[in-house]
Amino acid sequence: MLVSATEMLNKAKTGHYAVGQFNINNLEWTKAVLLTAEELKSPVILGVSEGAGKYMTGFETVAAMVKAMDKTLNITVPVALHLDHGSYEGAKACVEAGFTSIMFDGSHYPIDENVDKTTELVELAHKNGLSIEAEVGSIGGEEDGVIGAGEVADPAECKRIAELGIDFLAAGIGNIHGKYPENWKGLDFDALAKIQAATEGMPLVLHGGTGIPADMIKKAIDLGVSKINVNTECQLSFADATRKYIEAGKDLQGKGFDPRKLLAPGFEAIKATVKEKMELFGSVNKA
Ligand code: 13P
Repeated sequence: MLVSATEMLNKAKTGHYAVGQFNINNLEWTKAVLLTAEELKSPVILGVSEGAGKYMTGFETVAAMVKAMDKTLNITVPVALHLDHGSYEGAKACVEAGFTSIMFDGSHYPIDENVDKTTELVELAHKNGLSIEAEVGSIGGEEDGVIGAGEVADPAECKRIAELGIDFLAAGIGNIHGKYPENWKGLDFDALAKIQAATEGMPLVLHGGTGIPADMIKKAIDLGVSKINVNTECQLSFADATRKYIEAGKDLQGKGFDPRKLLAPGFEAIKATVKEKMELFGSVNKA
């Protein structure tokens, strides 16, 4: 069931759990995430970065594939199709394409420009029934060629953006996309507590979910995080399972080269990763 993310995240906030956002890259990925959510009766968010959207030949293709798959797989749990770290133009394109949720990442603009663009996109999203996420304080690491240093968001700026009518807020608290470096200091929980106090009931979003230890995830949820975005960890488990299949020479046995066979271990590996995260985030049986 395709829906905006507003209700599922408000419920998560009051229920003290988080909904997982898993970014999709192709048909196998989408199917693996949807089936796992249905099996575990968990709400779920399918994230699409602008790069992954282009890779899958555009946002229209992605929206059509997700809608058709949601129907043919008889998915009954709430599913949001969400643009991850969208640009101003990308956010508008996803409203047109039939996404149910967008993120406008204005964290790299001066705060006044972030406010202006976010205000305009809140109106557009809500007019069309979509939920909208905004960001303050850029998330570190590399994604689609953009490298950030992992800023800690200013609570006053978070409050300003939260008051624009957005549905959930991504705030940098030292989190990084991709694998965490050895010398990573961990999440800044003092900053998170201040951001929660400044934004009151707003569901908060934790990006860079890959590799954050379970105790930090639980503490972040206690401090108001209601959505956690995981991407790299699914990519790593997919690659690992595919490598093992090929290294075992299975593609050389019978019709093991058939993509339906070749991609099957990776598909199962994504399912296992998504299951593990949903259990950790507490969203199982919350659909
Ligand atoms: P990871 O790739 O570190 O899991 O981060 C995902 C994310 O937050 C994408 O916006």
